[in-house]
Amino acid sequence: MLDYPEFKKLVGQLVGIDLNEYKSQQMDRRIHSLMQSWEIQDYDRYLEVLKTDPQKYKEFVKKLTINVSEFFRNPERFEELRRHILPELLKGRSKLRIWSAGCSNGAEPYSVAIIVRELGAADRVEIFGTDIDQAVLAKAREGVYEFNDLKNLPPELTLKYFKIEKNRFYLNEDIKSMVDFLNHNLLKDPFLSKFDLIICRNVVIYFTEEAKKVLYRKFYDSLNPGGYLLVGGTEPILNYRQIGFISYSASFYKRP
Ligand SMILES: C[S@@+](CC[C@H](N)C(=O)[O-])C[C@H]1O[C@@H](n2cnc3c(N)ncnc32)[C@H](O)[C@@H]1O
Repeated sequence: MLDYPEFKKLVGQLVGIDLNEYKSQQMDRRIHSLMQSWEIQDYDRYLEVLKTDPQKYKEFVKKLTINVSEFFRNPERFEELRRHILPELLKGRSKLRIWSAGCSNGAEPYSVAIIVRELGAADRVEIFGTDIDQAVLAKAREGVYEFNDLKNLPPELTLKYFKIEKNRFYLNEDIKSMVDFLNHNLLKDPFLSKFDLIICRNVVIYFTEEAKKVLYRKFYDSLNPGGYLLVGGTEPILNYRQIGFISYSASFYKRP
């Protein structure tokens, strides 16, 4: 009979995530809530189900990595990008590389793409959206949204960049073509580099302090000098000075 730590280790190998790098309380709650709703009594059976039932496996990965997102989430950060950060970066460089790490359904990198287009710089910017979850990446590539995903987007931008049909919002191809989506595990895969802006928000909530420290150092190394890292509102980087960042404005850190 498997016990819980053994199960966690094996299931981590199956999914390709080291579950010990996630804070255990929330993770354990998620794992057990699914176990309960599927009426599974023991961990051997749970592992068996995950190995043999692709639908349940998918649901499990999704549950572990909840992917809530929306366009212009925390609009004041996008305002800061539009008014200060992106114009400053565009002034000093001929091309910009931007990475939305843990991009979920694509609303975050597409929000940046819309701003860049509004600034008239679409052909000078490369945007990457990465996520561990293949299913959300497929949604991101589709670019079809509900009203709720767009509630922070100014109506004129919604009308300009979406085709609306039967309460579904289809993102225009020009914006879609500005973002490349890639499958990437922040805790395991090698990082891309030479970015001018990295956005990683609402992803590290389940990571341990140790995993976060490693992650933020890697982000620092992946930034060009003068580049910015934007994190979630409730996720300040406590040791940002030690890493080498300066704090620029709420949730923005700059590599000098
Ligand atoms: C709550 S969403 C955040 C989406 C977007 N950044 C935002 O703030 O609106 C968190 C995303 O992080 C992804 N994620 C979780 N662990 C990850 C990991 N180790 N590597 C890459 N992505 C991960 C999840 O799949 C999920 O889509």
